[in-house]
Amino acid sequence: MFQKNIPLRSLNTFGIAVTAKQFLEVTSLETLKEIVSNHKDLFILSGGSNILLTKDIDKPVLHLNTKGIEIVKQNPRSVWVKAQAGENWHEFVCWCLENDFGGLENLSLIPGNVGTSPMQNIGAYGVEIKDSFESLEALEISSGKIQTFYADDCAFGYRESVFKNTLKGQFIIVNVTFRLTVKDHLINDQYGAIREQLKVANAVDPGIHDISKAVIAIRRSKLPDPKKIGNSGSFFKNPVISAAHFLKLQTLHPEIPHYKLSEEQVKVPAGWLVEKCGFKGKRFGDAGVHEKQALVLVNYKNAQGNEILSLARTIQKTVSQKFEIDLEMEVNVL
Ligand code: EPU
Repeated sequence: MFQKNIPLRSLNTFGIAVTAKQFLEVTSLETLKEIVSNHKDLFILSGGSNILLTKDIDKPVLHLNTKGIEIVKQNPRSVWVKAQAGENWHEFVCWCLENDFGGLENLSLIPGNVGTSPMQNIGAYGVEIKDSFESLEALEISSGKIQTFYADDCAFGYRESVFKNTLKGQFIIVNVTFRLTVKDHLINDQYGAIREQLKVANAVDPGIHDISKAVIAIRRSKLPDPKKIGNSGSFFKNPVISAAHFLKLQTLHPEIPHYKLSEEQVKVPAGWLVEKCGFKGKRFGDAGVHEKQALVLVNYKNAQGNEILSLARTIQKTVSQKFEIDLEMEVNVL
């Protein structure tokens, strides 16, 4: 049933050339259940958009490719839409927009699949999926049973969920249900870059389609297209530091961008820190730091996972020495 020695280069957005010793594309829940009843130690590969592969994978690799989008409930204001894990995220967002369903437009063009979107509570331009999340169904590997998780069960945080922490490796998310608006959409246009882009596009009273177009334009201008240059979006999380630490930095660098989270905590953009350390646009062999967004590490062609990882560690060390801030990786490393 498993295929042997399958190259994974086209199945991870970093474009790292590693091999799966055993590989199976799964297109139905029945097959998934059957595999899980016989194999407990599996490697689940979905959209491959948040992983840095540094070696060949010995465990059986399941490439989750289940498809399907359905409306499960509707009232005059809201609609509940269930999408199967293997649906491509951006195509799903486009489907919602085509149906005039609001809530996910700020998350346009994010690489990856629906099934992994709750794992790290994907977010962009002032919105996270937790804002429209209703529930998900996941297969428990140990028991083979399907379990439903509501938002409270998922412990969503900034690029975090229970599936990255206490329940890591225990469940396979098989579908996700979102609660979306059918009218009176909540327009999230407060993010500076979105406002500027809306102005450029002359969108006076913006709707969800204008927001999506603005997000797509911003992302295209700043973030590399993984089909052209391998990458995994933001490699690090934006760190949260104490107000006292921030004041010290601000005295030295009055221009430092920041978001005040509370009286005690301030979030600073990792991209700014990495740029200040001189890494923006730098290239070391085929591994590099994107020239327009220093938070994005790139594989120009044939970089190995370890070369990207070693660059990431050098960046962490330099940022730590210069700013006394420890950058945490957002991307999962194998
Ligand atoms: N900045 C720099 N230099 C850089 C990059 C950024 O100075 O090289 C500064 C910008 O000028 C701006 C600030 O940092 O003042 C924030 O930059 P940006 O708006 O590009 O957002 P970000 O904080 O770097 C986060 C997310 C992105 C998301 C954007 C927009 C994280 C780790 N990243 O990036 O998410 O698209 O906000 O909401 O939170 C991802 O997770 O893969 C991702 C791309």
